[in-house]
Amino acid sequence: MTVLSPRPDLWTLDPGVLHLNHGSYGAVPRRTQELLAALRAEADANPMRWFRSVADRLTASRLELAAYLQTDPAGFALVPNASAGVTAALAAITIPAGSRIVLTNHAYGAVRYAAERFARANQAEVVTVDVPLEADDDSVVAAIEAALDDRVAALIVDQISSATAMVFPIRRLADLCRSRGIPSIVDGAHAPGLLDAPAEDGADFWTGNFHKWPASPRATAGLVVAEQWRTATLPLIVSWSENDERLPERFDQQGTADYAPWIAAPESLRVLAELEWPRRRSELSAMLDESAKLLAKALGTGLGEVAHSAATMRLVELPFAGVPSPEAGEAFKAKVSRDLKAEITLTAFDSRVFVRLSAHAYNSAQDYQRLAEQLPSVL
Ligand SMILES: Cc1ncc(COP(=O)(O)O)c(C=O)c1O
Repeated sequence: MTVLSPRPDLWTLDPGVLHLNHGSYGAVPRRTQELLAALRAEADANPMRWFRSVADRLTASRLELAAYLQTDPAGFALVPNASAGVTAALAAITIPAGSRIVLTNHAYGAVRYAAERFARANQAEVVTVDVPLEADDDSVVAAIEAALDDRVAALIVDQISSATAMVFPIRRLADLCRSRGIPSIVDGAHAPGLLDAPAEDGADFWTGNFHKWPASPRATAGLVVAEQWRTATLPLIVSWSENDERLPERFDQQGTADYAPWIAAPESLRVLAELEWPRRRSELSAMLDESAKLLAKALGTGLGEVAHSAATMRLVELPFAGVPSPEAGEAFKAKVSRDLKAEITLTAFDSRVFVRLSAHAYNSAQDYQRLAEQLPSVL
């Protein structure tokens, strides 16, 4: 079978730049951008008429997004991002004084801050479970299980971690939590588009971004809530839908806001379907395996030894002596952007520093070859 061709023509990305970090902020295809612009123009042509139409359009959009996740639309609410999804979940559960919120050393920094804020407010504490980079599913479950005693108010766990691009065994962890009566909150920020039916692993709360791998407009994410939590789960902004008993509709109204991204979001799912995304994703994964090895060879380093890596992200170690300060890390990325015209991201884990490579439908093997040729020159 022939390999699918890269399709940068479907995006509006600057062709003079290597775009190797889809994972952070996504990138929206031209067709979705056009729909988004048309919706905003419609809103500005007659704001009154637009806001009268929003509820029905959001319902249609939600149904399509829930179907993409293969989840029950009655438990699927729209939120602006995974950060909001985790925050809403933390606000829904009970966190008794003296209890613990458990997360791992792979947790996203902002999610850790959310856990810390709720722990502080409730005289609880955050406990971090160390999960080695190379841990297989059994070791991940064993490490987390050891921390799940009767003081635990919630487990927050990544489905695909940011710093390490590692896939966690969510079904097993969710089952474990359920058997102990511990609420589970799954941070699936990277999961839509990378895992099939990511919200169906049985967690109490799952959140994931459509603005990452499904390439929907930014500020589009989902929160999937298990039935027993739906009444207690409230949107972060109190608005007119406060007393709506239906979870999804309660989250639809967040005051006067720009609802166009939520309404346009399904267009990107159609673009991905036309791009034969599941097949393309596995081809991109194979291409990234080779590209990561090439870059590691050029840098004289190795790969992050992740047992179960996300399909379209890979870690390549940088030959840095220790983790740079946040400012130095930003300065390095800015230098790569300026001098090499390449956009990359760095991650740090266990005192090691990695380039986290991403691949989407607009990327080709040549992109990574160019990085491998040029990155050593800026080290
Ligand atoms: C694992 C993980 N969780 C949460 C987030 C936060 O997502 P957002 O910025 O859309 O809220 C990210 C963003 O990269 C992430 O990678």
